[in-house]
Formats: sequence, C-alpha cells, structure tokens
Amino acid sequence: MKNWEIENFLEVKNNQLHISGVSAIELAEKYDTPLFVFSEGRIRQNIERLKRAENFIDCKLKICYAAKANSNMAILRVVKNAGADLEVNSGGELWKALKMGFAPKQIIFNGTSKEIWELENAVNAGIYAIQVDSLLELALIEETARRLDKRVNVSLRLVPEIETKTHSGLQTALLTSKFGMMPDEALSAFHVYKDSKFLNLSGIHLHIGSQNPEAAPYAAALKMLFENLVLIYNETGLKLSHLNLGGGFPVNYLHDDSHAIDFPQAQREMFSANLEPAEVLENAWRIVKETASRVNASHLLENTTLLLEPGRSVISDAGVCLTTVRNIKERPLSEVNLRRNKSSLERARQKPKQSGVSFGLYDIEYKFVNPKVNAVVWLLTNAGFNILLSMETYKWYYHLISAERAGEAHNFPYKLAGPLCDGGDVYFDIEGLNRLPDYRLLPENVQPGEVLALLNCGAYSLAQMSQYNGRFLPAVVLIDEDGKVELVRRRDNYEDLVTNDIF
Ligand SMILES: Cc1ncc(COP(=O)(O)O)c(C=O)c1O
Repeated sequence: MKNWEIENFLEVKNNQLHISGVSAIELAEKYDTPLFVFSEGRIRQNIERLKRAENFIDCKLKICYAAKANSNMAILRVVKNAGADLEVNSGGELWKALKMGFAPKQIIFNGTSKEIWELENAVNAGIYAIQVDSLLELALIEETARRLDKRVNVSLRLVPEIETKTHSGLQTALLTSKFGMMPDEALSAFHVYKDSKFLNLSGIHLHIGSQNPEAAPYAAALKMLFENLVLIYNETGLKLSHLNLGGGFPVNYLHDDSHAIDFPQAQREMFSANLEPAEVLENAWRIVKETASRVNASHLLENTTLLLEPGRSVISDAGVCLTTVRNIKERPLSEVNLRRNKSSLERARQKPKQSGVSFGLYDIEYKFVNPKVNAVVWLLTNAGFNILLSMETYKWYYHLISAERAGEAHNFPYKLAGPLCDGGDVYFDIEGLNRLPDYRLLPENVQPGEVLALLNCGAYSLAQMSQYNGRFLPAVVLIDEDGKVELVRRRDNYEDLVTNDIF
C-alpha cells in the first residue's frame, strides 16, 4: 500500500489512482483537466470525526463548517445533509447558505469589515449569532437592529494573544493580528449593552488560526474563553449561552512523508500535524472543568453550547486536483541551483534517521538531477496558482503523484511548474527559502499528456481561484457514496471570461 492511500477513498487499482472507487483517468478523460474531484464519503467521515468530540465533553457541540474553505453549493449541500451548521464570512456566503436551505439558526457570521447591507441581511434573517469584531461594529449592529426593530444575537470576538506553530499568515489570535477586540473592551460592551432591547449578547468567540499543529493552544483558548465568561457573569450578571472556539484543526499534508526531509523542521511539524479533535477537546474541557470547580463556577457550564468552525479539517483531504503535463524541458544545473541544492542536501544529512525517507537521491553530492539525463527535468502542468493560490502565497504543500501510474515507484526527481506567465508559478520555493521541496518525485520518464494528482487540495483552492491569464476556472465533480459522479461546477467557457466586462 502506498503511504498516501486511504482505504475506500484514495486507492491504487490497475496502477491508476481511484477516488472513492472511480478511476481518476476516466474522470480526466471525461471532464478534462485541471479537474477538482471531491468525495462525499470523505467529507461525511471528516464531519463525523469532529462530531465524535461531543462524547468527550459535557456540553452540546455545534459544528459550524467554515464556508470560506469551500462554498461550492454542492459541497454546502453535503455539509448540510451530514448534519453540520455553517460559518459564513460575508453577505455573499450568507446568501449562499440561505439559498442552500440552511436554517438561520444554523448560521453564524464572521468578518472584520462588514457592510451595513450585510448586517441588515443577517439581522433580518435572524441568524444564530453575528460575531462582532470591534466595539464600533457592535454599535453599528445595535443601530441596524434598532432601525429594523429586531433583536439580534451577537457573540464578541476576542483576541486572546495565543501564538500557535502555524504559518505566520494564518496566525489570527495575536494582538499584532487584525482580528477581534481585547477582553476588557468586550467586558465594557457587556456593561453597556446588557439590557439592550436590540442586542442579545449570547456568546464570546475566538479563532486561534488555521493548521495548528499542537493541542495546547486549544486548551489555553478554551480556558481563556471560560475565564471571560466567568468575569462577564460576575461583573454583569449575564450568563452566556455559548462559547465559540473557532476553527483550525490541522490536516496531515505529509501523510505520505517521502518529501518530509525536504522541509525545515517548523514547516515539517506544521504540515505533518496529526491532532484528533476529540482528544484535543477532551483535554481542553478537563482543564476548563478544573478551573470551574476551583472558582466555584461549575454552574456556568450548565446548558452551555460549544461552537467549532472547522473548514480545512472537513474539506481539505476530500479534494484532489487532477492536472496534465503539457510541456517538458531539460536544463543543466546552474550555479544558483547548486547553491540551493547544497542547503537541502545539508539538511538531509543532518537528519539521516527520518522515518521512511529514502536518501537515494541525496547520496551523491548535487545529485538532485534526474540521473537518467543528468539534467534537471521540468514538467509544465495545467494547474497553476490561479487555482491553488496557497501554493504561491503561503508556499503550501500538496503531495503530488502520477494518477496514471500511481502504483509505480515514485523515485525520479522533477521540477514542477504551472502554466502562468509568472516565474513564481512553480511548485517549489522560488525565493530559495526552502519552504517547499525543490523537486517532486514521480515515476521515471513522465511525458506530456500524463495525468498527475495533487492531494489534499479541497480547502481554500476553489474559493480563491481566478481567471488570471484568461484561464478557464476548472470543472468540479463530486463522487457520492455509491460511486456516482456528479458535475457540480462546469468548466468556464469563453463567455465566462468576459461576462462582467462592459464593452
Ligand atoms: C474566524 C474563522 N473561523 C474558522 C476558520 C476556519 O479555519 P480552518 O479552515 O483552519 O478550520 C477561519 C479561517 O481562517 C476563520 O478565520
């Protein structure tokens, strides 16, 4: 079994990648590439895994899938049918949620810079809570609700000053970040609005960031939320009905660790994070219960609901991007390459016992070249950062395999790049900071026309894609639990490229 295989989901059959029982090559032939393929079964499994956490805490758990991770309407349908609720981050996502049939009480609304029309829509809909990002916004919400003569549920977003070991662009809980309000600001708001006719101050919220590799920050965050709940009760007499711990549960992007050695340690730890949400919450809840009994506040935990806002952990590994090699070229090693490769080589040598990592490629100095041709072989695919933006902005890692020859040894090094006009449209770290492997391992003799698969691509890809370079946004298919394939987004056509232009 290959390291990346997952039973009944990602498997090798007849040497080809199969996704939920369907041949990736047949999908590529029928729908063309680039193509995003999602597995309904895997999305449901991921939601079930999160729901299991309810068995390890003494309160109700409300899972609000973070629509920002992927709000394709069919994906929202699967999430809804799997029994999850929804977190939205704009009036647009709120509209999509309501259109998909989520009940208002299933929806929470985040965001740092909400427009008045967005607030009006949320107030009119009567959603579970608007998560408030500042005191100014709270005043605007109060004014809006007053004007509409409605009572609106709000939850104040706190900035807890908790650092995690994620990517710097994904840290959201530090005072240096742009999110939320300080706890004393929130407390002052509870004093001011506790008797408001238009605001129901129902909860407090935080989000410690995405892809957090360690359990401890979740425990610290939940404890911090609870301590604020106690403070608010003691000072204002208000008993909050919910605590919202945000999202951030990580995905193991190095499930297949054949490139693990290529990452600096911090990156490696982040990408290979393997936390079990139930264990994380069990531990965090135990700490909160101890705190509650120490300060005689256990009664404040009764009838509380704990909210989670998972995005990545629901959708990332349920999505695969199929891409085709369109061009190939060979280049000699340049001086720059030699210098860069040397630093990777040195790192590889310092960690000779890394589990499961082959050192064959690194044995001879500078042998990062394809040994067959004694040159660097470039493969140019049709999947660029216009459809996988995080690969460029955050140097995010997506494991790459040959979909056509999935069962063969992946032991030849290639440089990979997308189709865009930017030198930065590559699958390695163009800045030479080694945040991504310089080379990817694929079977020998990859030729134009071969279909490759990037794994774990389901989160923050479709949601961020663009028509840059006049490229058609790709088609998306969803495979249901009976292996039926449904086209859930058609590929763009020429007209889509100009549909909003006025000329
Ligand atoms: C407020 C909030 N909640 C939830 C999420 C989802 O995080 P993740 O996809 O890591 O679970 C995000 C993502 O940035 C967020 O900003």
